Amino acid sequence: MNVFKLIVLSCLVVFASSCGDKKAKKSEGFSYEKKSEVAKEVKSNPNDVVITSNDMMQFNKKEIKVKAGQKVKVTLKHIGKMDKNVMGHNFVLLKQGVDIMAFGNKAATEKDNGYIPTGTEDVIAYTKTIGGGETAVVEFDAPEKGTYDFLCSFPGHYALMKGKFIVE
Ligand code: CO
Repeated sequence: MNVFKLIVLSCLVVFASSCGDKKAKKSEGFSYEKKSEVAKEVKSNPNDVVITSNDMMQFNKKEIKVKAGQKVKVTLKHIGKMDKNVMGHNFVLLKQGVDIMAFGNKAATEKDNGYIPTGTEDVIAYTKTIGGGETAVVEFDAPEKGTYDFLCSFPGHYALMKGKFIVE
């Protein structure tokens, strides 16, 4: 009889503690979900654009879509390791009708100006040129609805590093 009671008691203890564990895990899971929901909300602003570039002369995006009539924030991250004199990257948004190749060739000679032609009226916005591990940010008003070209204007990069910037 005593042994039986002991078994029942120990079963209750095990049950109670496992039940307690489950509750603790549940509440952890809940707070984790909440955190990721907040992160999603931040990410879901289409005008908060993050674009990465690497040591292979690539952007991770060929197309960027933003909403008209609002501010745009472009964050360029260089996730490579190479120096900006060797593998420099920037983000340059061109006005409509500007030829990428013609602009790129002009920009290539403007090292001291961050590869932006001095006094140019061809650009809507641009970041400074950065090297591996660096980040650059530019904020500007979204231009009117339409499709625009973006590129990296470091010499020779526009052949690979370009894409469409769509305002809708
Ligand atoms: Co580049």
